[in-house]
Amino acid sequence: MRTPIIAGNWKMHKTAAEAIQLAHAVCEAVVDINGVDVVLCPPFTALGAVKTIVENTKVGLGAQNMYWEEQGAFTGEVSPLMLAELCGYVILGHSERRQFFGETDEGVNKKIKVALAHNLTPIVCVGENLAQNEAGETAAFVGGQVKAAFAGLSAEDAVKVIVAYEPIWAIGTGKTADPATANSIIGLSIRGAIAEMYSESVAQQIRVQYGGSVKPDNVDSFMAQPDIDGALVGGASLKPDSFLALVKGTL
Ligand code: PGA
Repeated sequence: MRTPIIAGNWKMHKTAAEAIQLAHAVCEAVVDINGVDVVLCPPFTALGAVKTIVENTKVGLGAQNMYWEEQGAFTGEVSPLMLAELCGYVILGHSERRQFFGETDEGVNKKIKVALAHNLTPIVCVGENLAQNEAGETAAFVGGQVKAAFAGLSAEDAVKVIVAYEPIWAIGTGKTADPATANSIIGLSIRGAIAEMYSESVAQQIRVQYGGSVKPDNVDSFMAQPDIDGALVGGASLKPDSFLALVKGTL
């Protein structure tokens, strides 16, 4: 059985002071909720502050990106060593990183390997854009992204990776993928690619989230799908009430 996981991707929102408030509210709200992993992903500048709030709670902490070198002359970057003392998860290859900051499949693959070597759990994002979707290229494109992301990973490492299927056209737009369609992309293209690379057993162990305009009123429809194990949520994770409703909807 795969434990569901819901992660709040706060993107470039929340000062450290605001992040502390939101993290407090979330930790209090989920104290009696079991059976779902809850992860908060604030911006780098708030990781240290939020760590002090989530410590000794069951709420996990993640970063939104990472560079693959441990240290060196890489102005503006944050290393796995630095993250490992702050958090347990890291979002890698988010479409906004790929679209606006030139991240490539090769870079994402390097980051995944380094994250795992530092005991950080990668949440790896894949997903097609609108043109690819309309051209019927989704399955092939997403399968290719997954194969590139997992290239060279041992089966032992592969099962630790969380994948988030996030169609780019659904992110922050209020449009969502049809849940059954998302489920079949996840089953055929994501688990299918992993089964080809490793085995059906590895494919069945990996947790796969859906992301893209997940809200309290639609989370159930995604969670009802057998291949969807949770959600990666942007906008609706920024308010305690709506995030709590999402956490409950994941159960
Ligand atoms: P959204 O963002 O929930 O605001 O669509 C999801 C994401 O980018 O992870």
